[in-house]
Amino acid sequence: MALHLLFQIDPGHYSLNKKIIRSRANRLMGILQLQTSQVSMVFMSDPEISTYNRKYRRRKRPTNVLSFPAGDYPPEIAPSSSKELGDVLISVDTAAREIQGVNKSLHDRLTELMIHGILHLLDYDHERSDEEARRMQEKEKKIFQRIKGFRSTSMVKLAVNVDHVATVREARGITEPDPVLAAGICELAGASGIVVHLREDRRHINDRDVRLLRRIVKTKLNLEMASAREIIDIAVEIKPDMVTLVPEKRKELTTEGGLNVSGNRKKLRNTISEMEKAGIPVSLFIDPDQKQIKAAKEIGATFVELHTGRYCDAMTAQERNLEFRMIEEAAEIACDAGLQVNAGHGLDYRTTSRIAALETIEELSIGHAIITRAVFVGLNQAVREMLALLKPSFQEH
Ligand code: PXP
Repeated sequence: MALHLLFQIDPGHYSLNKKIIRSRANRLMGILQLQTSQVSMVFMSDPEISTYNRKYRRRKRPTNVLSFPAGDYPPEIAPSSSKELGDVLISVDTAAREIQGVNKSLHDRLTELMIHGILHLLDYDHERSDEEARRMQEKEKKIFQRIKGFRSTSMVKLAVNVDHVATVREARGITEPDPVLAAGICELAGASGIVVHLREDRRHINDRDVRLLRRIVKTKLNLEMASAREIIDIAVEIKPDMVTLVPEKRKELTTEGGLNVSGNRKKLRNTISEMEKAGIPVSLFIDPDQKQIKAAKEIGATFVELHTGRYCDAMTAQERNLEFRMIEEAAEIACDAGLQVNAGHGLDYRTTSRIAALETIEELSIGHAIITRAVFVGLNQAVREMLALLKPSFQEH
């Protein structure tokens, strides 16, 4: 397969991630089984695409996408070999204008235009008839979903963090409420996993909880922990279904930021290999940052959990959109690198559905919002209400 991508615009101007575009274009070629074809895609500005639009379609304005099937080329971009399928020209300026006021990323709009352009090369033409337009639109939708759909299940999974049931127990220093019982209720309500953070200071979850949870959790037990000797030994002995390594500071109220994986490769690599020997997959809790994703892959993590805290804490819609786009991009880059992607921290009943709609994300880890709602509506109901928000019908794109 020969796919030539040419960026004739400054990608920095629109925060365009060439890696994402390249990997989506490759996936598109794979889905359409164009492995033996040659296609060029040129990402250009409005003035440039206007020149082609004027010359070959006699239209004065810019357009979003132009396709030139092989044999139908303008002489200046004529193919060197007859095996070529053709060229797709895309205006990034127009694509950026088209998403204004619409909840869609530039990467997604460009992906739609790549699909549209290539289908034209394959002789789909929405201008031929209404029937053809419908057929093309349906095909576009299906391809888009396949390009974006990394997840093994149609709905994101919910893992409930029951730490704060133990926080309430510890406030009295007695035995109730019991996080072990809470875990059972969460599972009965439909949660796909239980998460607990065994902190070095044992401020909420303690050793007895983890041991009992290992015995009663029927779904999946994810042990959140620091890469600390004492806790590593407990994990290796208890064998949770997975562990999530987090940075841990004694004075913090909750986990504050993601791990600095690139700065702690040796230590984290050693922990991962100890877990590997015990048959325990490891997730690294990281900020949505390409450098950390690359380092996580290099040191052998199976999962990354993307920190959603800044997205949840955003004070304005603009800031939230920006943080959301960072998570969206990071999740895609991590998937492409072959990592499985989870996300969590700070998610609540208003912020979760948008993250759940990202088909790159396998599982969400949610604690505080569910446990606090449970005080008023009961734990069973609180879990069910969160699950309802994860259903694709609730999600906006
Ligand atoms: N993921 C990680 C790594 C965490 O440390 C926490 C908090 O314990 C969560 C998810 C859940 O965050 P929250 O309680 O805000 O839902």
